[in-house]
Amino acid sequence: MKPGNTPLVELPELAPSGTRLFAKLEWYNPTGSIKDRAAWYMFENAVATGELVPGQPLIEATSGNTGIGLARLALIHGHPMAIALPSTATEERKKILRAYGAELIIVEGGPNDAIQHARKLEAEGEGVMLYQYGNHWNSFAHYFGTSRELIRDWPLTAPPDHLYAAYGTGGTLTGNSKGLVLQWPEITIHSVEPFVDDPIGGMRSQDDPFQPPIADLRLVSKRHPVHKATAEKMVAVTMQMSGHFVGTSSGAILHAAIEGLSEHGGTAIVLLPDAGWKYLSGPPWV
Ligand SMILES: Cc1ncc(COP(=O)(O)O)c(C=O)c1O
Repeated sequence: MKPGNTPLVELPELAPSGTRLFAKLEWYNPTGSIKDRAAWYMFENAVATGELVPGQPLIEATSGNTGIGLARLALIHGHPMAIALPSTATEERKKILRAYGAELIIVEGGPNDAIQHARKLEAEGEGVMLYQYGNHWNSFAHYFGTSRELIRDWPLTAPPDHLYAAYGTGGTLTGNSKGLVLQWPEITIHSVEPFVDDPIGGMRSQDDPFQPPIADLRLVSKRHPVHKATAEKMVAVTMQMSGHFVGTSSGAILHAAIEGLSEHGGTAIVLLPDAGWKYLSGPPWV
């Protein structure tokens, strides 16, 4: 099953008065996150170019969602999969990865340490690393997929004024910003980020010393740093007000978009990366 064609729904309960807020629910992808898109495009391209041959092991460094998407593809197509995971990854994510048959290599530290470790394994010939931070098919997944779906499914006559999305590898922001401005030149693109010293799973600050090589943020007009506790609070508010069970990065994006709509008015799209299931062992649920 190819990822994509996720629903675009309106969230009237959360939109400030006089504004309209629309959300693309990315947990409707095969393993429950936006990263199924990047995983599928990177995998398919590696097979098509012969970089990945039948039975060859795969290695990836990920805080979870890309690994889960790739582990599913590896399982279906018969590749052993090893995943370097920061020790901070949630238990739910580790269990899901094991369920998809992946071997977990827990690396002390954060995502950057996991990346270093996986690259070392690849250099030692342990397998092929599709390397989501440097693989342009990560952003092409959004240029050819997500942004075209948004243009196709947008329900209003006037174009949307704003797009709010998380910055992690930059795949989502790079591909969607380039795809959307072709159709809607006036759209303002917003990058939602954590603070460097207050990480949120899957997200990255532009102040982080490591910036993914694929990230091209020239079309991003505004940055919105959000504290993790604020994002978690928004997760609970979203559940209470709309019944949508979102993950922490979605909480951050919704917080930034609602704050933004209150200031600038108009219409906005939020890309919500995943649902709340993988975060049940943390706030706001414990
Ligand atoms: C939960 C979550 N939110 C946001 C992102 C950021 O998306 P991107 O890597 O396309 O920038 C990720 C990426 O892994 C993620 O897992």
